[in-house]
Formats: sequence, structure tokens, C-alpha cells
Amino acid sequence: MKTVREEFSSKFGFLMAAAGSAVGLGNLLAFPVAAAKNGGGAFLVLYLLFVFLICLPIVVAELAIGQSTQQSPLSAFKHPKKSLAKPFWSFSGFLLTLTPFMIAVFYSVVTVWLLGYLTITLQGRLDQLANPDFFSAFIKSDDLFFYLIGLMFILGIILFQGVQKGIERSTKILMPTLFILIVALALFVLTLENSLIGLKFYLLPDFSKINLEVVNGALSQAFFSLSLGMGILITYGSYLNKKANINKSATMLAGADTFVAFFAGLLTLPAIFAIHPNTNPADLSTSSVGLIFSYFPKIFMEMQPFIGYTGASLFAGIFFSLALIAAITSLISIFEVAVATVRDHSDLNRHVTTFLTLIIIAICTWVLAQSFGRSDFLTNFIEYGGTNKSLFDLIVDIFYETILPFNGFLICIYVTYHWKNLSNNLEKNNLLTTYTNISLRSIVPLLLLTVFLSTVYSKYL
Ligand code: TRP
Repeated sequence: MKTVREEFSSKFGFLMAAAGSAVGLGNLLAFPVAAAKNGGGAFLVLYLLFVFLICLPIVVAELAIGQSTQQSPLSAFKHPKKSLAKPFWSFSGFLLTLTPFMIAVFYSVVTVWLLGYLTITLQGRLDQLANPDFFSAFIKSDDLFFYLIGLMFILGIILFQGVQKGIERSTKILMPTLFILIVALALFVLTLENSLIGLKFYLLPDFSKINLEVVNGALSQAFFSLSLGMGILITYGSYLNKKANINKSATMLAGADTFVAFFAGLLTLPAIFAIHPNTNPADLSTSSVGLIFSYFPKIFMEMQPFIGYTGASLFAGIFFSLALIAAITSLISIFEVAVATVRDHSDLNRHVTTFLTLIIIAICTWVLAQSFGRSDFLTNFIEYGGTNKSLFDLIVDIFYETILPFNGFLICIYVTYHWKNLSNNLEKNNLLTTYTNISLRSIVPLLLLTVFLSTVYSKYL
């Protein structure tokens, strides 16, 4: 017997949960640095256009599919019944279930490291983190196992309690906390000499930096950041009351995610330039991992002349907490896709399902964490595009870099050619509804397919 489907209790609760998913390490690190490198204000404008003109219609579509079918992605796509293309839609549902699983695993590896870095900072060992050899030794160490158990424990406590008491309640506390921490750190950093140089790179537009690669990068970043193509918004949409207004929720979600990314830039860039006023933005890495684990600990240590070792450790501690909150609230949403999928296709209750999901993801995370020198086989797993890649690199390349835009493309095709009821689930006589209908059958799939094909071409051929 199926129990009644869980539901978000309020608009605010849904918004915090969805924003928790969308706001992640990409917002805090990759986005601000990409902006500073690629034309500052010009990049921001481009990013905004992509969020609202290209990504927002897909946010709407994913939420509507979830809300209307009340199913997780694996079965949401089979609806409505009977059609010649059924195997194709079953495959799409499968892809939208496999993708989040794989992303959950690789994002968990990084979050495990982050938990480790926060713990070490709180132990007063920030100086060790700033040692250039620390990171490569740390990701091979046995300590990771304990941090993995710690992370799964935290996620378990939240997910065990379900949509309202777990996901909604925790994100309602964590997201405002995250935002207050960003603003507090930013206000502090902006008092440091030279911090304004960072703002200049972040905000002053330089349109000459915009080229095809930058455009591609901005679109991928916006798409990833909004949790698109991962089945998350379909799943969260399935917890929305049938009467909930998707147009409003989707717009607020896109706004909140962009807002946090923007504010993160007011913290990250001034911090970098306050310490190294002569930094050339072009030399900064846009990899969130490189920034957070190698570059930032050094910056924190160099804050000592201003605030002493304890002050620097406190700053680092708050920063790592912030990043950890961002990562955990994203993981909650993506683990929930797996939990919802198992529950929709079995009679298992939430506790058993959560427990099984956590165990399976933890095992896969542990295996993937061996890709950094603990296992030779996984570290030099495969060669393509002219370089040796680890299993971790392979999973990131396939499921994050390549498949996401393709999944977005499938969603466009689905709502255009197969499930024609999209408008029934949206506000009537509304600009966003009209725009969604038009764009999902024209510009959006075209752009996503182009990004997908160009990634395949440049990465694997
Ligand atoms: N917004 C996240 C980031 O910027 C990306 C993301 C969205 C994500 N949903 C997720 C990551 C779910 C992991 C799990 O990093």
C-alpha cells in the first residue's frame, strides 16, 4: 500500500530547500572567479541572461513534470502511458536517475575533504593546511574514512526525518545562516586595504573578454548551479502541492541562486586581492576544488598580519563552514532523488530507504576517493583526449561536464513532443508561461544540444 506523498509545508520551505540545492561550491568559488577572469560585469550580464532566458524555462519544466506526475524521474518520464517512443522515455528517466547518483558520489568525495579541512582548522592546525604538500597527502590518507562516516551521519539525520521535518526544517535554518555568514565575512574583507581591486575585476565590464568559450562556460555554470538535468527539481516538484504556483517558485529559485552567487563574489574576490593585490585574474584557477583546498588556505594564513593566527583560523573556520553548508544542502537534494526513486518503486519505508541509499552512496564514494593515489588502477584509470584520467575525472567529465546539457535537451523534447500538458500546470496569461512554451521548443534545446556536441567534440575526440 502506498502512503500519501510527502509535501513541502510552505512556499518558503520549498524555496529554501530548492535554493539549498542550487547554492553550492560552484556559487561560492567557481562563479566569482569565472566572472573576474572573463570580463567582470560583462560576464555577470551574460550569466544573468542565461539564467533567466535559457535556464528558467527548464526549471519551470522540471518542476511541472514533478508536480503533475508526483513521481521521481525514473517513472515521471513514462507518463503519459502508451507511446511508440516509450523505450526512449524510459531511457531518459533512467539517465535522469543515474546522473544524480553519479554526481552525488563525486560531490560527496569533495564534501568529505571539506569536512576534514573544517575539522583540522577547528583543531588549530590551519598552518598545516597551508603547506603546499598537504592536500595531496590528505586526499590519500586513512582519515578520510572517518570524515566519510561523519558526512553520511549528518546527511542521514536530515534525510531520515523526511521532507518537512528533515529537508525543509534543516534548510530553513542552514540557508539563512549561510547568507548571514557570507555577508558578515564580506563586510569584514571589504575593510581590508586593496580589497576594492577585487571588486573592480568583478564588477567593471570588459566585453572584449567574451568569446565562445566564455559563453559556453557561463551557460554550463548557470545550468549546473540551478541543479538542472539532475532530476532534483522533478523530485522536489513532486513534493509540491498540486495548487502551488510553479511560475513564482521557479523565478524565486533562479533569483535566489543568482543572488547568493553574486554576493559570494563580494567576499571571494576582495579576499584574494586584499592579500595579493597584484594577482592577475587570468592566473586564477576556476576549479572550485583547486581554490578551496590549495589556494584559500594560503590566503587565510597570510591574513595573520591583520588578525593574528587565531583570527585567521576563525576566518578560515567560518569560510569552511559556509562551504560545508553549501555542499551539504546540495547533497541533501541529490540524495533525496535516490531515496524518492527507491520509495516510488518499492514498499520500503523512508528509514530503510534512507539507510540503504546512504550505505550504497558511501561505498561508491569510498571507491571513488581511491582515485587520488590510494589505488593505482583507479588513479590512472583511462586515457582520452591526450591525458591520463582517474576514475574520478572520468565520472566528472561524463556526468557533470557532458551529460547535464543533454539531459536538459531531453526535457525540452519531452515537454514539446510527448507531454503536451505543460501549460495546464502553469499560470494562465503569464509572460513566463508563454516564454517557456516558445523557448523550450526553439532556442533552449538548440543551445543545449550545441553545448553537448561541442563538449563531446572537444573532450573526447
Ligand atoms: N549548485 C551547486 C554548485 O554550485 C551544483 C549543484 C546543484 C549540486 N545541485 C546539486 C551539486 C546537487 C551536488 C548535488 O556547486
